Amino acid sequence: MAGAGRLRAGPGPGRLPWPHALPAALPAALRRWLSSPAPPPRVCVVGSGPAGFYTAQHILKHHGGALVDIYEKLPVPFGLVRFGVAPDHPEVKNVIHSFTQTARSERCAYYGNVTVGRDVTVPELQRAYHAVVLSYGAEDNRVLGIPGENLPGVYSARAFVGWYNGLPENQDLKPDLSCETVLILGHGNVALDIARILLSPLQLLRKTDITDSSLAALACSKVKRVWLVGRRGPLQVAFTIKELREMINLPGTRAVLDPADFTGLESAVKDAPRPRKRLTELMIKTALEKPAEVQAAAAAGAAAAGAAAAGAAAAGAAAPREWGLKFQRSPQEVLPSADGRRPRGVRMALTRLEGSGDSARAVPTGDVEELECGLVLSSIGYRSLPLDPAVPFDSRRGVIPNSSGRVQGVPGLYCSGWVKRGPTGVIITTMNDSFDTAQSVLEDLQGGVLDVSLSREGFGLVESILHSRGVRPVSFSDWEKIDAAEVARGKAAGKPREKIVDPAEMLHIIGH
Ligand SMILES: Cc1cc2nc3c(=O)[nH]c(=O)nc-3n(C[C@H](O)[C@H](O)[C@H](O)COP(=O)(O)OP(=O)(O)OC[C@H]3O[C@@H](n4cnc5c(N)ncnc54)[C@H](O)[C@@H]3O)c2cc1C
Ligand SMILES: NC(=O)c1ccc[n+]([C@@H]2O[C@H](COP(=O)([O-])OP(=O)(O)OC[C@H]3O[C@@H](n4cnc5c(N)ncnc54)[C@H](OP(=O)(O)O)[C@@H]3O)[C@@H](O)[C@H]2O)c1
Repeated sequence: MAGAGRLRAGPGPGRLPWPHALPAALPAALRRWLSSPAPPPRVCVVGSGPAGFYTAQHILKHHGGALVDIYEKLPVPFGLVRFGVAPDHPEVKNVIHSFTQTARSERCAYYGNVTVGRDVTVPELQRAYHAVVLSYGAEDNRVLGIPGENLPGVYSARAFVGWYNGLPENQDLKPDLSCETVLILGHGNVALDIARILLSPLQLLRKTDITDSSLAALACSKVKRVWLVGRRGPLQVAFTIKELREMINLPGTRAVLDPADFTGLESAVKDAPRPRKRLTELMIKTALEKPAEVQAAAAAGAAAAGAAAAGAAAAGAAAPREWGLKFQRSPQEVLPSADGRRPRGVRMALTRLEGSGDSARAVPTGDVEELECGLVLSSIGYRSLPLDPAVPFDSRRGVIPNSSGRVQGVPGLYCSGWVKRGPTGVIITTMNDSFDTAQSVLEDLQGGVLDVSLSREGFGLVESILHSRGVRPVSFSDWEKIDAAEVARGKAAGKPREKIVDPAEMLHIIGH
């Protein structure tokens, strides 16, 4: 299959052709496997985010002979670790080091720039591999389904995050940040990420890998106030304490929480699980805290104390920017400005809660309220899409139906990560879930459910398909060249990297 100027056929770039003479330096387990008469099991993984890499890692670690190929639609790897995780959270991205170790394994190969479902189908992959694992994440977002949702100036959090993180498809977003007030709909960690990016002092962002163009837009931003609006109450927020604390401590901003929202909650969370209890206590403390200036004025009997007590409690009264949480408001309609060029607000249905705890439901009371703003960011969650007609998909839940990662009704097909269990959970959750799927693959290899007596061609077969369709994959060493170019560009600006946002430029760097 191999031809001049194309990726090598066989087990993959940097791997041994098959069959072959075995170099002595190979790991013992691999030598044993390769010298046995059975052909090596070939596994392919679709998607190079945490789910894809952790699935590959676990299979490689626990099966001395398996060969794993990872296919990724973008030229660059790592999914939401690169395009989702906030630029001011560099420590979270350290998982890239372990993914890189995996990709450099002699038994693993990376093929970027290959969109499965378009460039190669899942049945074609199934013909080339003994097992196929779908780990392609959640590339769409939930929609509110309310009037005005498609107005200019209303964006999904997914697109906004993609914009500041350099995701190629979102580089034309160019959000208009000339308004003072932004509404973020949703009380999850993505909502807090976005609020932080909108309100962070520029000098903090300059040292991160946020893209230059979004930094330039944020430098001209007039945004002073961000409201995070949830349809349920303080006991149902989906964000976590570390992220809330970061907001509270954000330099140059003050938190505006209404103490009335928290009445009686201290006793209500007494027996709640510890993370929920601590999170609620922090919100209550912030709502009740008086800023130092106000406290000083109160001590002197100044009128300022009265003003503060009447309004919301706040931290850092002199702060030029502010943010706050609004509860029990469900978005009903985005209202256009007179010229229709941006939103002027969102009409909210006020809600009451039916039931308690996590399962409480928000039910409209019949009352409404208009919240003013000039920009709306809908942060109500991501959503997976079906990939291929050959793969069952539960459209209601937005997941591939599976049992421990085994796709229902399709032997040899597996799934892991957000497409397996839905778009929630941090990287560690995704890791555990991917190990669970990898374990299913290993059991099926060892238990004979997967017939490994028949040799599969792996990338050799896929390469010929891709070639016939004019698709040129990107190898991991190609990515390392792009990586080096990004790091070099960032160095000049004191950033860890300057992301290249145009796939054509990425391909140019590697000579494609
Ligand atoms: C904005 C945001 C911030 C987050 N921040 C944190 C954080 O700070 N800490 C934390 O622990 N967790 C964080 N998370 C959660 C974490 O990112 C997820 O748990 C994890 O990325 C899910 O992994 P995944 O591999 O299932 O999906 P993804 O990371 O989305 O990876 C899927 C991969 O599949 C590829 N793909 C898609 N379609 C195809 C196709 N047809 N063919 C080939 N490849 C395809 C995609 O390009 C992508 O690379 C965050 C999530 C979001 C949305
Ligand atoms: N720093 C970090 O660790 C970090 C950063 C970002 C993301 N993540 C993780 O990534 C995952 C995804 O985060 P996410 O914020 O996108 O999702 P999320 O945690 O599921 O939060 C979604 C929010 O949207 C609300 N919502 C959903 N549908 C709605 C509707 N129709 N109308 C109004 N509100 C609606 C939810 O409210 P209800 O509860 O009422 O449904 C919830 O407040 C999470 O597990 C998160 O922890 C982690």
